[in-house]
Amino acid sequence: MQEEIKIEFKDTNFWYNSKQILVGINLKIYSNKITALIGPSGCGKSTLLRCINRMNDLIPISKIDGKLLYNNENIYEKDTDVIELRKEIGMVFQKPNPFPMSIFDNVAYGLRIQNMKDKNKIKQIVKESLEKADLWDEVKDRLNLSAFRLSGGQQQRLCIARSLAINPEVVLLDEPCSALDPLATAKIESLLRKLKNERTIIIVTHNMHQAKRISDYTCYLLNGKVIEYSGTAEMFDNPKNKLTKDYINGEFG
Ligand SMILES: Nc1ncnc2c1ncn2[C@@H]1O[C@H](COP(=O)(O)OP(=O)(O)OP(=O)(O)O)[C@@H](O)[C@H]1O
Ligand SMILES: [Mg+2]
Repeated sequence: MQEEIKIEFKDTNFWYNSKQILVGINLKIYSNKITALIGPSGCGKSTLLRCINRMNDLIPISKIDGKLLYNNENIYEKDTDVIELRKEIGMVFQKPNPFPMSIFDNVAYGLRIQNMKDKNKIKQIVKESLEKADLWDEVKDRLNLSAFRLSGGQQQRLCIARSLAINPEVVLLDEPCSALDPLATAKIESLLRKLKNERTIIIVTHNMHQAKRISDYTCYLLNGKVIEYSGTAEMFDNPKNKLTKDYINGEFG
């Protein structure tokens, strides 16, 4: 079966000032799959992820060239509506970052920004988003509680619910479990597995076991270059490049 390509980097280069961070990236990200980005600290994983929803635009010293296609359109064209793009490509960060407001209001935030007025519709979407993030049962009786009262793992699932509420096609996650214990991590992994039926997911992880457990494809980045990109089982069972082999083995050892 031919996989559908959701995002494609085409000879993409990226710099901070004169320092080149991403070098000639060619990478296809497939719809309804989980793609893991792995590689040593500083290799450019977060930078690559932030190119996809143009978060790097916020850094004035940054520069990009080449193409980055989303649904076959180059998102770095001048007429791209970046606000619209970020609605379609949501992001979840390493450290849970709930807003200083109630659980309900956190999830409703994006809807209200979009000027949705229908209270019942907002309630409905908040409930569905919390259900998709596997948090509903734990919070349904205390939706007015401050989000800060939740545990770290719950806060991270809340952030996932918040990003899902505006119905993104793609969810980018930058080490979403690195501040969480194994049980909280397992919950996030299981919800990501369910989510990929309707979304495209890209996750940066330092944890090889995690990449192996949840991703369909894995990309190994080193010094801003794609060293190897393949199906996850293939990459871990039979890495083609010695550099990949060394990294995987080092991390397991
Ligand atoms: N805002 C910035 N200004 C200048 N340089 C930056 C900025 N952000 C990141 N860098 C540099 O870009 C390079 C890639 O950083 P990036 O955060 O993408 O790496 P990473 O692979 O995500 O690392 P880690 O695993 O530690 O999160 C590093 O050399 C980093 O110092
Ligand atoms: Mg990073």
